[in-house]
Amino acid sequence: MHEALNRPYDLLVVGSANADLVIGVERRPAPGETVLGSDLSVHPGGKGANQAVAAARLGARTALLARVGDDDHGRLLIEAQRAAGVDTVGVLVGGAPTGVALITVDPSGDNSIVVSPGANARLSPQDIRAATSLFGLARVVSVQLEVPLSTVAEVVRVLPADTRLVLNPSPPAPLPAEVLASCDPLVVNEHEARFMLRGTDTAGSAPEDWARSLLALGPRSVVVTRGAAGALVAESGADAYVSVPSPRVDAVDTTGAGDAFTAALAWRLGLGEDLPVAAAFAVRVGASAVTKKGAQESYPTADEVATG
Ligand code: RIB
Repeated sequence: MHEALNRPYDLLVVGSANADLVIGVERRPAPGETVLGSDLSVHPGGKGANQAVAAARLGARTALLARVGDDDHGRLLIEAQRAAGVDTVGVLVGGAPTGVALITVDPSGDNSIVVSPGANARLSPQDIRAATSLFGLARVVSVQLEVPLSTVAEVVRVLPADTRLVLNPSPPAPLPAEVLASCDPLVVNEHEARFMLRGTDTAGSAPEDWARSLLALGPRSVVVTRGAAGALVAESGADAYVSVPSPRVDAVDTTGAGDAFTAALAWRLGLGEDLPVAAAFAVRVGASAVTKKGAQESYPTADEVATG
């Protein structure tokens, strides 16, 4: 356990906000194939907005720095943040239509997602500089890659030295060395780990091999999420990796479960918990999130995690 910083926000999330347009399908289509699906439903989503709602629902004092369009989707997203108790002082409006995610979900709960970034792509380094004061108010800052990489790099530049950065490189993209060096932890799933390690001579394909090779890229710590198998935690300088098992659950919809995991992890790290302890809590939050449909609608309260 570490001493927690005395700050007004437990977590500042910098990232995307999308309207999720969701269709249930018997089978996700192969290239060139057309399949029929369920009625369309529209939900608040986006990796940044999801993380903010997940953290707030758990009880974290949370703020979101994001950009949405001046349209119905944008209003839906802001309303969902406020309903969850997220401070939306950092949510900017305008510049392009709100981001949209086209999501198909099959009966096993697996999904395919295509994102049109819209306003997320207009969240600029200048927007980050204009919001610099927010960064000193948070114990932890969490960021993903549905906003421009130049914006993520600016987050690293304005980050106070004692504020922890959690980064999930999703969707994956090459990261500058200074961004990698600030991650504590870098949170990756299997796809993201493989992308980050492409072109390196990683021997083996076990999560331990990925964690070792990812640490060599420069982050202070790494968490590899493994779905139903839990997570693997690796810290620079530590002798051993810690494997965190997941409770067994019946998955209904995995959409946004990774966002809930990362938000829970970031919150608990800000409270001073050690990385393996925070990851053990986050695994239970992620497992809970897959038992219900949707992203934000599926996120548990701290009580539900305790009794689940
Ligand atoms: O991680 C799930 C999220 O990815 C969805 O809510 C969708 O908006 C995309 O950003």
